[in-house]
Amino acid sequence: MIIEYDWRAEQASKSLLRILPEVEKAFAKELQQIPNAWNEFLNRLDKEWQRLFTYLHQLYGWQYDFFYTLERILYSMVQFWLERPEELKSFDDLRGTDPSWFESEKMSGGVLYVDLFSDNLNKLGDHIPYFKKLGLTYLHLMPLFAVPRDDNDGGYAVSDYRAINPDIGTMDDLYKLATILREEGISLALDFVFNHTSDEHMWAQKAKSGDPDFMARYLTFPDRKLPDQFQKYLRDIFPTIRKGSFTWCEDIKRWVWTTFNSYQWDLNYSNPEVFRAMAEEMLFLANRGVEVLRLDAVAFIWKRLGTDCENQPEAHTIIRAFNAIAKIVAPCLLFKSEAIVQPDEVIRYIHPDECQLSYNPLLMALIWESLATREVKLLEHSMRNRYRIPAGCAWVNYVRCHDDIGWTFDDQDARNVGIDPVGHRKFLNKFYTGDFPGSFAKGVPFQFNAETGDVRISGTLSSLAGLEDAIEKKDNGLIEMAVRRINLLRSIQISIGGLPLLYVGDEWGMLNDYTYLTDPTKVNDSRWVHRSRKRWEARDDLSDQDTLEWRFFHEMVKLLNLRKQIPAFKNGGMEVIHTGNPHLFGYIRAFNSQKILIVNNFSEEPKILEASHVEACGVKSGVANILTGEILSSFSDLILNGYQSVWLDISEP
Ligand code: GLC
Ligand code: GLC
Repeated sequence: MIIEYDWRAEQASKSLLRILPEVEKAFAKELQQIPNAWNEFLNRLDKEWQRLFTYLHQLYGWQYDFFYTLERILYSMVQFWLERPEELKSFDDLRGTDPSWFESEKMSGGVLYVDLFSDNLNKLGDHIPYFKKLGLTYLHLMPLFAVPRDDNDGGYAVSDYRAINPDIGTMDDLYKLATILREEGISLALDFVFNHTSDEHMWAQKAKSGDPDFMARYLTFPDRKLPDQFQKYLRDIFPTIRKGSFTWCEDIKRWVWTTFNSYQWDLNYSNPEVFRAMAEEMLFLANRGVEVLRLDAVAFIWKRLGTDCENQPEAHTIIRAFNAIAKIVAPCLLFKSEAIVQPDEVIRYIHPDECQLSYNPLLMALIWESLATREVKLLEHSMRNRYRIPAGCAWVNYVRCHDDIGWTFDDQDARNVGIDPVGHRKFLNKFYTGDFPGSFAKGVPFQFNAETGDVRISGTLSSLAGLEDAIEKKDNGLIEMAVRRINLLRSIQISIGGLPLLYVGDEWGMLNDYTYLTDPTKVNDSRWVHRSRKRWEARDDLSDQDTLEWRFFHEMVKLLNLRKQIPAFKNGGMEVIHTGNPHLFGYIRAFNSQKILIVNNFSEEPKILEASHVEACGVKSGVANILTGEILSSFSDLILNGYQSVWLDISEP
């Protein structure tokens, strides 16, 4: 008879029994002074240790010095916990009393570049009233760390995770800002750019000088043998900049793995020292008051020969190990995954033990897809089957962000609704670059790959939705259409379930900014077309009711504030309904006794939700459209104007 027993659990506790006394000895003086707090730490350690041990064993257990790795990691954890400011430890406790805080309907997020919005961190604090007016409770500051001076991929080539770009401020400024934001009920989110460092990072510098320990932190090769084998299966992320994923480094006469730009060196996570060092960088940021870390480029962190080196199982194990460490040392910290990949893969990063939050690239891409086609079949089909995620997790819903739009829908989903995925992507790219008859969009192609024909789309919400074109044509009718499109997308973003994330600037209708074309460090990256400096003069427009800026801003304020009053809009259930009309996308949000029906018309023409469907959804006469306050007295068919969205309260009395 084979007796099955979980040897890992036994080994985990054995290891801990051996390691813990050593670590306690090293910190004896500090720990003696805080016996109660230390006990709480030990409770959390006890809860998460087995899982952490298991992940680390899966990743590094085969290495001869695994026990040493464990000890070093625990040592770092205790050290950073001791350094964690008291106020953050109290905040950990507070969050512990309401662990699902981020799922609340009261939550709304914004994301911005500090330098483009307010020049620096100090001045950012002056704009808190602006954020509060918008109703934001979550603020993601785009990467603001020390970076190479010229080209740095918009901050995603980090030279030092513990230093702020001096043009923007200092770590002290960041800590102060985080504290003020927290007091104002706004959670600070920052990037954890953990797939790569810049080639100016101290580790890369040491690697370049030939230091073997630091060379081992990256993936370098003496000749093309392995790179060529890997390359066969790899996707070029920035094909217009460089072919292939490897860059020759003359200093060490080796090829370096660089998935993105040549100056972004991929870290080698098969080296436990990289994991430990990056765990320290993570905890360092947590100790500066960051509540949410956006895990950048999660898909790429583990390489395996013979695969595309994206979404490997070990990528998940690494994130889960970080998650366990965070739960022990800085338990209020949440992770948001940036996996802009196929939908089956996106969802695998979402779990309370992995990333509690995730961008929702599928919703983002498909609302643009529906705007182009005026049909909702792919959106409806995909959302019906793919919206559900594990309890305790939430989507982050966005319409635009700092990156391009890629058409990451599932090919089989498309075929299921009669769409040829390859041809459809070509159509969407033509449509959004304005290269299709009747297109309203002014997008700019991003990273055209001549070999595969692939391309992605840059552009702001307003320019992609037709505002730029309409303004150029001085056509009020077209302007009105663009405004409605923008409001339609927002209505969905805010009501469908998850945390809405505003790309700051879109609230007043920011258009494409073509000045990047004259900047040699930006001209090759069209994403700069939608990363423009905030026009503070637009603030005057915001007080003039006749301007478009005013209309956009107040519509945003209205929607975000309405959201806060609708408990059914908290994270959770979303049921796509069958509208029977190819242009109408509808769903029901429910919580306790509250039930809200949302219907969105993706056509510029009026469309009808027929009486039988209206009835099936439980709509009765006397129901109010929450967006307008209008009471729908007696009706049979529900008629939606072009691009109209209705939010109907259909709760049982
Ligand atoms: C992510 C960022 C993107 C950056 C890339 C490399 O995808 O969103 O802006 O270029 O990672 O760090
Ligand atoms: C990631 C995303 C891709 C994006 C890129 C940076 O690779 O998958 O969509 O374009 O980062 O822009």
